[in-house]
Amino acid sequence: MIDMKAEAKARFDATVAAADALRAASGGVTPRVLVILGSGLDGVVGETRVVSTLSFADVPGFPPPTVEGHAGRFVFGYAGETPILIMQGRVHLYEGHSPEVVALYMRAARLLGASTLVVTNAAGGVNPAYQPGEIMLIEDHINLTFTSPLVGPNADEFGPRFPAMVGAYTPELRERARAIATDLGIPIREGVYAGLLGPAYETPAEVAMIQTLGADAVGMSTVPEVIVAVHAGMRVLGFSLVTNVAAGSVHGHEEVLAASAAAAPTLARLVAGILTTL
Ligand code: HPA
Repeated sequence: MIDMKAEAKARFDATVAAADALRAASGGVTPRVLVILGSGLDGVVGETRVVSTLSFADVPGFPPPTVEGHAGRFVFGYAGETPILIMQGRVHLYEGHSPEVVALYMRAARLLGASTLVVTNAAGGVNPAYQPGEIMLIEDHINLTFTSPLVGPNADEFGPRFPAMVGAYTPELRERARAIATDLGIPIREGVYAGLLGPAYETPAEVAMIQTLGADAVGMSTVPEVIVAVHAGMRVLGFSLVTNVAAGSVHGHEEVLAASAAAAPTLARLVAGILTTL
């Protein structure tokens, strides 16, 4: 029989160890916001006063990333006056990691003091009106990974067994994001993100299904992180950069990276603008 209590304690101890390693490398920055950058979206780092960095490989319990376009490091610094912790790169379930690893880094950031998550990703547009290069403010998500980082004994230190997911993408932060986008003259969409396991891109039949389900964009990240954040009582703001039309006949990772390279500076400007207000 699995000893649930012992397993929960081992997970909590691992989270504390990861948080300790991060704190030791923080250069004195106590982050209020955790910022996760998707493929090709590193531009936010250029808008940040960087204090210190730490490679994923130097955090206990943390696997190095395996995806091109992801630097794989933590960056401590300030966006304006706001102390932030940036993850340049993330862990994807399709890399073969257990969803628990997502819980580990989210909760380590929470232990360091982060009470808000700002998460970005590259996504395929499934709303037929969406064009590559557009920014979508995430209104809600659909978990199509068919797993959850909360599977297993509940981490009572962080949140309840059955967390509510209503308002997961904090309405007040979405309103603020809309206002700042307007101020900066950056047009944005607002829609639903479907998170899949990957790594294969969707078949046309799957895209049709995802449209029917009510999603506007599709990708292979974000959903696990947001679930852990909401469980731990964090506020969440999410953006998708639409890098391709998912229903398009041919696309691959190069196309995604090229589209994010072209449009990412705009999203970086928007995210940086919001971060200074958090
Ligand atoms: N599908 C899934 N994930 C993605 C896509 C896509 O079309 N584009 C970027 N990430």
